[in-house]
Amino acid sequence: MDKKVTKIGVLTSGGDAPGMNAAIRAVVRTGIYHGLEVFGIIRGYAGMVEGDIIKMESKSVANIIQRGGTILKTSRCLEFFEKEGRIKAYENLKKHGIDGLVIIGGDGSFRGAQIFTNEHEIPCIGLPGTIDKDIAGTDFTIGFDTAVNTAVEAIDKIRDTMDAHDRLFIIEVMGRDSGYIALHSGISTGAENILIPERRTDIEAVIIALTEKERRQKLVNLIVVAEGDGFGGADEVAKIIKERMPSQEVRVCILGHIQRGGAPSCFDRVIASRMGYAAVECLIDGRHNIFVGILNNRMHYIPLTEAVKKKQRISEEWMKIVRILSS
Ligand code: F6P
Repeated sequence: MDKKVTKIGVLTSGGDAPGMNAAIRAVVRTGIYHGLEVFGIIRGYAGMVEGDIIKMESKSVANIIQRGGTILKTSRCLEFFEKEGRIKAYENLKKHGIDGLVIIGGDGSFRGAQIFTNEHEIPCIGLPGTIDKDIAGTDFTIGFDTAVNTAVEAIDKIRDTMDAHDRLFIIEVMGRDSGYIALHSGISTGAENILIPERRTDIEAVIIALTEKERRQKLVNLIVVAEGDGFGGADEVAKIIKERMPSQEVRVCILGHIQRGGAPSCFDRVIASRMGYAAVECLIDGRHNIFVGILNNRMHYIPLTEAVKKKQRISEEWMKIVRILSS
């Protein structure tokens, strides 16, 4: 894999995340700056398998840094996880002479990149693009900051009506395997309780805490639940609370995909730009099969295998902060 790259492909894969367009823009413009040809692969690995590949120019990425979604579109492609699919994908890359790839996505997309590069020796650089922030080895992922701020804005609005009616609200945020959106949005909106997939949900403890608050006439309560919480999401939690505490006026709100859209925050635009730039520099320097992370405000280059194996861990201290501050 030591030969110099001349033509690179960029794709977005998995769930979209605000800031992906800023990352695409950075890859395209840094590549062109270095005299590389840059190709956009449409709909992630699906476009690689089907040969949906287009040449990108500097102007192809004009006026996109502020836009949510991804101009390259995205998908979760099962065919790429079959050997035959990857052979087709490789043939399509060869047709365009593509000899390096930048993959913007989450850990599933990195897993695909790793398998592909082992089989076909195309250097791959990953950029962590996921609202879930569930990739170990980087302090940030592209899209998390925007998504969590969208959740906070929505929860603040719900709090107004919740307060007016003295209600208990159970709000579900995204995060199938990860509680970071729940944790950050819950802490910053003063949630009484935050339920996340990384920790076993102790529903008895939730009910005891609510009963104690009821005794103190505190009827406005907010519980933030990650969709992947082991208890089964906001609806399940609400069902049990309604059964056990009929005096509580309980309402549920599932925020859903609103968290994936919208203009990326300044923070996401900046990290996406830095990471996109770094990815191309890595390909030029002959690095491969790594993803670009940011730790302590410095770029870090982590083997794709590490992203695949590890998950972020949420320490007990976070939960302690929630308990103390919501008492
Ligand atoms: O991209 C991550 C994520 O938003 C998860 O938090 C969520 O569980 C999942 O994607 C939803 O995926 P889909 O849009 O395919 O339903």
